[in-house]
Amino acid sequence: MVAGRQQNGEVLLVLTGAGISADSGVATFRGPDGLWEGHRVEDVATPEAFARDPALVHAFYDARRARLGAVEPNAAHHALARLERDWPGEFLLVTQNVDDLHERAGSRHLIHMHGELKSGWCRACDARMPWDGPMGTSAVCPACRGAGQVRPDIVWFGEMPYAMDRIEEALSRCTLFASIGTSGAVYPAAGFVQTARYVGARTIELNLDPSQGSIFFHQTRLGRASKIVPAWVEELLA
Ligand code: OAD
Repeated sequence: MVAGRQQNGEVLLVLTGAGISADSGVATFRGPDGLWEGHRVEDVATPEAFARDPALVHAFYDARRARLGAVEPNAAHHALARLERDWPGEFLLVTQNVDDLHERAGSRHLIHMHGELKSGWCRACDARMPWDGPMGTSAVCPACRGAGQVRPDIVWFGEMPYAMDRIEEALSRCTLFASIGTSGAVYPAAGFVQTARYVGARTIELNLDPSQGSIFFHQTRLGRASKIVPAWVEELLA
């Protein structure tokens, strides 16, 4: 079930990616050089990479977690929180981002389908726990007290994104689908627009450049998220 007041029968599903946090100073994943902050994807974002070199993978995510303290939600995050508050229908925000800027802006009906930097997952006891500060290779699990078994609670390549049942349920009923700040390079999120089209939803993309799936959208608006998202929200709520 998607949260909301259901006054107008509209079901709005918003998908966000790294581009929405770019104007807050959080680096996107796919830079022009194809590297993630100097690393190859397969060196930092796969279970195999973690098994091979846990110290490198922890250092990569510890650095990203540490940077969260230095960044703030931008006008696009705030606009989506306002949209959730004032939208007279059902609303669900699905983010591929692992930062916490949506919740800090006030979004509540939010799914982190690729996990969260501020969460840890103990491979020994399967507990998930809020995590602040560095994790490193010898972190102690607060649930089972085991050492060295906590990993970043991030969905890596080859792993199943979170809450797909809830997302698919919302997608199957959505009447409006918006994709913001994502390159459309990573499935299953990249395929949401096709499902939305299949069920008859209107679809819009807001991004700096046309995404890989741009042709599937009814409408594309190009520009920086902090400019074009507030304007779009203003129109929707007018
Ligand atoms: P990408 O880095 O692939 O794409 C970011 C998109 O944002 C690009 O299309 C840019 O054009 C756009 N962009 C950049 N700056 C922008 C701005 N100021 N305003 C609006 N758009 C802007 O990031 P994602 O699509 O989110 O997964 O990547 C998807 C997944 O790939 C990530 O969640 C991550 C990675 O694998 C995991 O870690 C599992």
